Amino acid sequence: MTDRKSEFASAPLKTFGRRGGRPLSGRQKVLMDEALPRLQVPIVPGQHLDPKQVFPNLDEIWLEIGFGGGEHVSGQARKAPNAGILASEVFFEGIAKLLGQIEDQKLENVRVWPEDGRELVDGLQDASIDRAFILFPDPWPKARHQKRRIIQPDFLDALARVMKPGGRVRFATDVRSYADEALERFLAHPAFDWTATCADDWRNVPTDHVETRYQQKKLGDIDPVYYDFSIAQTA
Ligand SMILES: C[S@@+](CC[C@H](N)C(=O)[O-])C[C@H]1O[C@@H](n2cnc3c(N)ncnc32)[C@H](O)[C@@H]1O
Repeated sequence: MTDRKSEFASAPLKTFGRRGGRPLSGRQKVLMDEALPRLQVPIVPGQHLDPKQVFPNLDEIWLEIGFGGGEHVSGQARKAPNAGILASEVFFEGIAKLLGQIEDQKLENVRVWPEDGRELVDGLQDASIDRAFILFPDPWPKARHQKRRIIQPDFLDALARVMKPGGRVRFATDVRSYADEALERFLAHPAFDWTATCADDWRNVPTDHVETRYQQKKLGDIDPVYYDFSIAQTA
């Protein structure tokens, strides 16, 4: 892994803060040097990967962007062994944590993209993802920073391209202004149909949710909301 420049033709704004934090432990360094090359999603710039090549024997392909400490990825990977999960994070310590969980729990259905998740999306084949999760993304609460939020119209176009018709997307946040803005953007996009039919559908914790570390910190200004969308069959 390198700190290379973005592969985007015109580099979009960064949606994340820092990539480095505390120095990695000895084990974490070994995981980054030895496990990551084996477990990295094989995206090639300028090409579209069919993720079925990575998981030929699994029924579904899932995607998570901004996995933080990886608890949701590894939790879902244990609960859904027939789903192959492509997981993206840029924070080195978080990447190393998920690699540790993959090794310790002997998870065979997770691959890691240790760079901007938008590059991962851009590198995937059309209609190749069954389920996507964007959970408690960086909220960028200050008005002048909100353009850094990952839920932007062009990102939703990119996400819609790689989702299978009938696929599902979950977005969660505990920041009111982000909840409002993201919902407005998803609803304005023709590919995403909000599946909620009553308030309990978005304010109750989904039965298949795995609580995340960031969520436990309760840094937001509202209780978490969980917006589930299905992908329109015509998308
Ligand atoms: C607020 S944290 C939440 C982490 C995790 N989802 C959780 O709930 O614990 C958001 C994470 O998204 C990561 N992130 C932000 N933009 C990203 C991007 N474009 N691609 C991959 N990861 C990103 C950040 O590094 C950060 O770890």
